[in-house]
Amino acid sequence: MEYKTDFLIIGSGVAGLTFALKVANYGDVAIVTKRDVMETNTRYAQGGIASVFDKYDSFELHIQDTLSAGNGLCNEEVVELVVRDGPTRVRELMDWGVQFNLYKSDRSVFDLGLEGGHSKNRIVHAEDLTGYEVERALVDRIRENERIILFENHIAIDLITYSKSVKRGVITTTHEDSCCGAYVLDTKKNEVHTFSARITLLATGGAGKVYLYTSNADVATGDGIAMAYRAGASVANLEFVQFHPTCLYHPKAKNFLISEAVRGEGGVLINGEGRPFMEKYDPQKDLACRDVVARAIDNELKRTGHESVYLDITHKDPDFIRKRFPNIYKKCLSLGIDMTREPIPVVPAAHYMCGGVITDTYGRTDIKNLFAVGETACTGLHGANRLASNSLLEALVFAHRAASRAIQELERLSRNPIHDLPPWDTVGTTDSDEVIMVSHNWDEIRRFMWNYVGIVRSNKRLSRAWNRIENIQKEIMAYYWNFTVTADLIELRNIAMVAELIIKSAMSRKESRGLHYNIQYPQKDDEKWRRDTILKRSIEG
Ligand code: SIN
Repeated sequence: MEYKTDFLIIGSGVAGLTFALKVANYGDVAIVTKRDVMETNTRYAQGGIASVFDKYDSFELHIQDTLSAGNGLCNEEVVELVVRDGPTRVRELMDWGVQFNLYKSDRSVFDLGLEGGHSKNRIVHAEDLTGYEVERALVDRIRENERIILFENHIAIDLITYSKSVKRGVITTTHEDSCCGAYVLDTKKNEVHTFSARITLLATGGAGKVYLYTSNADVATGDGIAMAYRAGASVANLEFVQFHPTCLYHPKAKNFLISEAVRGEGGVLINGEGRPFMEKYDPQKDLACRDVVARAIDNELKRTGHESVYLDITHKDPDFIRKRFPNIYKKCLSLGIDMTREPIPVVPAAHYMCGGVITDTYGRTDIKNLFAVGETACTGLHGANRLASNSLLEALVFAHRAASRAIQELERLSRNPIHDLPPWDTVGTTDSDEVIMVSHNWDEIRRFMWNYVGIVRSNKRLSRAWNRIENIQKEIMAYYWNFTVTADLIELRNIAMVAELIIKSAMSRKESRGLHYNIQYPQKDDEKWRRDTILKRSIEG
């Protein structure tokens, strides 16, 4: 089946939905999303949106905090425009029905939280379920918009560019690339559809599933980064994977975050010996930047041999804890942990990809008519380490900017009809008789990425990871060409691609900076390495 649309949006988190709502007055919109529309990383974001509202805060301070977290690699123009646009974007969300926490005594004042690396309280939040509340309100509006068609249970396989031939993945010409849609698998019917679009937006979120332990939703398999790279777009800074210091450690808890806001409200990290330890590592103690806290925990775990550290907030009033963190409180209690009376066991886990598909300040990639926004993109905001709660902010600001530019471009593109594209080529493929290859390689990649390309890296670990990914990539390619595509195979192909790019980027950076720490090069080297790590596939493939 072939669908034609003005705007094709791949992904349904805050970036994709915000973009959709803004462009829908100008053209038809198709949103393709892998599972249920709500099943995105946005939905699980607990902390909030960093923005300047407090009278003691200023844009300059927020800019400064973002730059110091980013450790020399932020694009200052981007930092400035994102920070300054923040309050407008937050108010727009409220107009769309998002309910943030406001002071009871003055409903025009936000109840602002504090998180690591922030010099002031500036986290606009909705209890400890901010992402859920934002996603809920956006989905409500999407569902009532007649120009937006939502394709749930549809997973994009690859972008379609002019330089790509009919046969999947084979590049035949080298003229300037332009994106004209994507091949998409309907996972309920097992049919591949062709989506022809004037403008395509990648908003597929993060890639936490590349690692064994992650705070991310199961859908976070780096699809946008992998598809963009395969299509010939430039990607950058993929070595900067942020590990959140505090994910719940419990055999029955999968991917559950204990928000940094718990430390913002006074929570203290203690080791298995019952001692607070952050003062040994940083003067900002428990509210140091995430790279510092995650490395400190990693060190404590290795030093003591314990399986987790603990986050203790028992000194606060139980009623306050229950009210401020209803979601975390409920989840912990369901597992037999009463956080008002006992410390919560926590470990670091892969949380956020600071690198991604390179875009300009309007979300445009270096492939014409292809935009990328949100965690998929690398705009220059985060540099070598993202400041907490700057991600929803970036997604909102860039969705707005990308939409304004896409609307302008649509005017030019509308002079020509939408292209007829070749259907997906299924010749020569049969159903697999070896599904074990997919599940085995999924596990293997996630495990060696965790062990060799995690919080603390070394040349030897990276080269072990490189050897493994090379072999796995060959196996996946052979399988991909011979058998019918499935959602699991598509995701495996993407996590393998992203893993390869992370390893390659980490091997090339011969220093330690922000989230990238290599024991062979423990120092930062501004002279040689104060630059982005850019990768681009050669067009010959
Ligand atoms: C958290 O609540 O700790 C996550 C916030 C973020 O990653 O920005």
